Amino acid sequence: MAHTLTWYGHATLGLETDGHRLVIDPFFSGNPASPVRAEAVHADFILITHGHGDHVGDAVSIAKRTGATVISNFEICNWLSAQGVEKTHPQHLGGGFRYPFGYLKLTLALHGSALPDGSYGGNPAGFLLTTNDGKKIYLAGDTGLFGDMKLIGEEGVDVAVLPIGDNFTMGPHDALRAVKLLTPKHVIPIHYGTWGLIDQDATAWGAQVQAETGAQVHAIRPGETFSF
Ligand code: NI
Ligand code: MN
Repeated sequence: MAHTLTWYGHATLGLETDGHRLVIDPFFSGNPASPVRAEAVHADFILITHGHGDHVGDAVSIAKRTGATVISNFEICNWLSAQGVEKTHPQHLGGGFRYPFGYLKLTLALHGSALPDGSYGGNPAGFLLTTNDGKKIYLAGDTGLFGDMKLIGEEGVDVAVLPIGDNFTMGPHDALRAVKLLTPKHVIPIHYGTWGLIDQDATAWGAQVQAETGAQVHAIRPGETFSF
């Protein structure tokens, strides 16, 4: 079973797995790194890590147009329902659920989660997805480094998608420490380069990670896909 992960810049990702199309943190409008317009996005499921505008993004318009089910925390799902999104599935930290595309668990993230209009957005999250053929993908979301990444690593992570931009999330130094705790086979760096404030040299970071860990780093560009 092939899985494809496409980066649309910032923290926006597309994942195709077992015939299902997932979009994670669908920030297309106003995302200077996105090569795709929100109107062109197809989705069966939309996953949202936390309430910030650069993560909720175009979730409402894409969900209304495509009929996709939005998966996020309880508070964000309630907020989306109030905006007219019909299908939501709320979860919360530590809880998992088996969807047609795999088993999805919410993991903790050290960050904020207020929604764009100031509404309470619950706790920020990451996602640990176990695909239908048993591959584990860890999407850290916006987070600082935390020691319990070691517990996530104990699950056997195949692909870890980590922020490296610094300022709002882990920077390169802590993201390297995260790789050491998670011990993933593959790493994809995100949440950098969108604006000058979070510019990073992902290629240099990848070389350092590969020199110090057993992980392979794939510093794909916006619009590029990693298949596994
Ligand atoms: Ni954020
Ligand atoms: Mn962010």
